[in-house]
Amino acid sequence: MKINVLGCISRRFFASSVIPKRAPFAVLSDKDIAFFEGTVGKGNVRTQDLEDYNVDWMKWYKGHSKCVVSPSNSEEVSAVLKHCHDRQLAIVPQSGNTGMVGGSIPVYDEVILSLKRLNKHYEFNSITGILQCDAGLILEELDERLRKEGFMMPLDLGAKGSCLIGGNISTCAGGIRLLRYGNLHGNVLGLRVVLPDSHGSIVDFGSQLQKDNTGLHMHHMFIGSEGQLGVITRASILCPPAPTSVISAMIGVSSFSGCCSILRDARRFLGEILSSFEVMDAATMQCLEENEQLHNVLTSAPQFCLLIETSGSDAEHDEAKVQRFLEYVMENEMATDGVLAANKQESAFMWKLRETAPLAITKDGYVYKFDVSLPLDHFYELTDAVRERCGDKVCRVVTYGHMGDGNSHLNITTKEPSEEVEKLLYPFVFDWVVAHGGSISAEHGVGQMKRDYISVGKSERIGELTRALKPIFDPRGILSPYKMVV
Ligand code: FAD
Ligand code: MLT
Ligand code: ZN
Repeated sequence: MKINVLGCISRRFFASSVIPKRAPFAVLSDKDIAFFEGTVGKGNVRTQDLEDYNVDWMKWYKGHSKCVVSPSNSEEVSAVLKHCHDRQLAIVPQSGNTGMVGGSIPVYDEVILSLKRLNKHYEFNSITGILQCDAGLILEELDERLRKEGFMMPLDLGAKGSCLIGGNISTCAGGIRLLRYGNLHGNVLGLRVVLPDSHGSIVDFGSQLQKDNTGLHMHHMFIGSEGQLGVITRASILCPPAPTSVISAMIGVSSFSGCCSILRDARRFLGEILSSFEVMDAATMQCLEENEQLHNVLTSAPQFCLLIETSGSDAEHDEAKVQRFLEYVMENEMATDGVLAANKQESAFMWKLRETAPLAITKDGYVYKFDVSLPLDHFYELTDAVRERCGDKVCRVVTYGHMGDGNSHLNITTKEPSEEVEKLLYPFVFDWVVAHGGSISAEHGVGQMKRDYISVGKSERIGELTRALKPIFDPRGILSPYKMVV
């Protein structure tokens, strides 16, 4: 399913944010366009109707690129990057453009390198479970192909119908099953990367093997590096067998400490089959009801709804386990109510509630979005603190997220962008998160949104080392400037 495109553009403005000045990069010329056309084919260079490429999914950022180049293989990417290096033209890699921090959007007039046509190569070994594929393949399509062979992608997220695997790797996307299958640093074995240097070097980092300890494990540097160092064109990924039994349940809970007790016991009781543990607070459910007319499957109107999923290979065994767990939770009065999905449709509806949350909040008007990791002791305290701080100046304070991984998605909605609310939130939330042992970016990345806050709570030396690394890969600083590494 393709994700919906939202309505109007509301540009994010940070009163406190200082957008770096345009660096002295070259300005795109007719000769550049002719070169790109000669390299990737005339029909694959766009210079008109670029709105979909210049604006992000949340409609927070608007770039002013005059040109989108769409190569179809690593050699074409190499030629384009070499040309940009030689001409000192800035360029931004863009995959599905579903990122939530403005990373795929030019800040000024950078050329956009669209990776959607890099979608030919697919090679899967059903004995080892190792997939080798082009970076431009859509996550959901990869998953569907693998399922025909009894396997699946090790990650899943609401944007799966639009995001590309290269974009997922570049953001180190987390999603709804990280609890079970781990993050991409564990599953990505190797990457083909094109560097924006004088050769447009094509380098295979890592390998297609599960074990390879020769040299520095440099492919990890590109996972989550948001296109700052090179362009990922191909990946080797270890894929798990698809489960034959998947069970979903929703549980209503009256307190966040109660949710923590259920997580502790779910890990104990459901052990190896627990694959998701998601939370939605009452404000999320109210928003789904009011903005999307989606009704909670739980009838007790609980403060928190937990969406739990198990994935296993023995339906009878898994059902018995889940059933026993739900009985335990109810008998011990840990839950206000619970519903076990009776079939795929009911399960799909539970997931629809969770996956529609990001869209539902946008219907209030404007969203201030925070994607943070927090120790569970403080996970919901932040929501309470923000609620108290913002009072009636905001429409809602909504929290949902991947509770099993300690990843909270805190969203504050207003009718329109408000400087007053912004000043209440920034840098308050980030300072609060760091003071409580969390991370200001759990899974969405830094992009344009968190550029000014990246050093909060980090040693200065990390910044120095990061800045020293960038020119090794990108000597002229042309790749995605003004973002994570400034
Ligand atoms: P893009 O947005 O196009 O790019 C993301 C970044 O990577 C940019 O900085 C870009 O320059 C860089 N980049 C892209 N491709 C390459 C490449 N080949 N080489 C080098 N750099 C590259 N994220 C999660 O982690 N978990 C979720 O559960 C989740 N749910 C979402 C639900 C919805 C409805 C939406 C809209 C988004 C969600 N996201 C989630 C955020 C987003 O989908 C992910 O960050 C995703 O991984 C981005 O992939 P993309 O193909 O859209 O990349
Ligand atoms: C999610 O988990 O739904 C996504 O990361 C998107 C969001 O935070 O809204
Ligand atoms: Zn998420």
